[in-house]
Amino acid sequence: MAIRKIVKLGDETLRKVCRTQEKFDLRLAILLKDMADTMYRAEGVGLAAPQVGVLRRVAVIDIGEGLHEFINPVITSREGSQTGREGCLSLPGRQGVVTRPNKVTVEYQDRKGNHCELTAEGFFARAVCHELDHLDGTVYIDVMDRELTPEEIEGHIPEDDAE
Ligand code: NI
Repeated sequence: MAIRKIVKLGDETLRKVCRTQEKFDLRLAILLKDMADTMYRAEGVGLAAPQVGVLRRVAVIDIGEGLHEFINPVITSREGSQTGREGCLSLPGRQGVVTRPNKVTVEYQDRKGNHCELTAEGFFARAVCHELDHLDGTVYIDVMDRELTPEEIEGHIPEDDAE
């Protein structure tokens, strides 16, 4: 198990547009394993490669229903909308309210380079949008409706009832 350091807001790595992952090799497998280990250790539900300092279009997500690995992901359709709280391992201690599509279809490659497609709804769709944004240098605070106060982070907000 290799835990990588998660870069924090202010590090310019988070603001770069990531390059296409071209090679589906051992190096990618190690990156994916390390990213999953790092995400689980930090108790996050998603992690994008730039968050561990790697400027490649790679992300992992596990909202509690199993690990998903996305290589070169592209959202091909968006439906509906949801408004709810969101945080990021690169912005510890902060949360915002972000409006996202309620349902997205994403085309991507798996670790072997196979082309795949998946439809995500609800919180999974939110996580997909959040992680894919990272691959283009976008962080949730760039697209949020509002930032939560420390009291709101600990407590209940109207948007919590929306789901
Ligand atoms: Ni994030």
